[in-house]
Amino acid sequence: MKVIVVKDYEEASQKAFEVMKDYLKPGKVLGLATGSTPLGLYKLMIEDHEKNGTDYKDIHTYNLDEYVGLPLNHRESYYSFMHANLFDHIGIPEENTHVPSGLGDLEENCRRYDEMIADEPVDIQLLGIGADGHIGFNEPGTPFDSGTHVTDLTEQTRKDNLRFFKDLGEEVPTQAVTMGLKTIMAARNVLLIATGENKAEAVKGLIEGPVSTECAASVLQQHPSTIVIIDEAAGKLLEKK
Ligand code: F6R
Repeated sequence: MKVIVVKDYEEASQKAFEVMKDYLKPGKVLGLATGSTPLGLYKLMIEDHEKNGTDYKDIHTYNLDEYVGLPLNHRESYYSFMHANLFDHIGIPEENTHVPSGLGDLEENCRRYDEMIADEPVDIQLLGIGADGHIGFNEPGTPFDSGTHVTDLTEQTRKDNLRFFKDLGEEVPTQAVTMGLKTIMAARNVLLIATGENKAEAVKGLIEGPVSTECAASVLQQHPSTIVIIDEAAGKLLEKK
């Protein structure tokens, strides 16, 4: 695991873009994330597409997760999020993009999603991290050998994500479909970004903690090619500076 410490969110997004740039090539498969963390990187990818004409026609994407029960056109579905914050601005064909479906036959959706990923392995998986150490929505206790599955969101995660639903007067959904830890670990390369003090404990577990299902992200210590980009605040509990 390579750890890069930067000053702040902006610099973290810049560094992440430098890493990502190598994968913005025809034939590559990107694993993508939602949430606040990747927004800076997505802005840079959009800018780069506009300025340099980086072509996404032959790039395929697989997102980590989706809430259960939200219609695709709900503002807070991860399908909508990805369209609003990236897909609609980079000229990527809709059929190249995949977001797990939280509607219909969930078991079948999960099985199919893993099958598709097995057929075209992810070259680089982008990750944020939850305050409880989750990656995707693999909450504490998720087995390391899990494939894409339906999961209950913890109270902590629902509290953390309330900021997105509050103004709609809606509750955060109670379940999500998520790539499992085995699915994530199968990616050829992983790029995790964590910024802000509220991620410090999770980052300590990720980098210096025991490899344990209590901090799902700690499994990445066993991944052969992971880059972690953190800002100073997120790294403040690390013993090795
Ligand atoms: C999002 C995802 C989650 C987030 C994590 C951090 O697709 O899988 O694991 O990366 O909850 O969220 P933010 O970036 O909003 O702090």
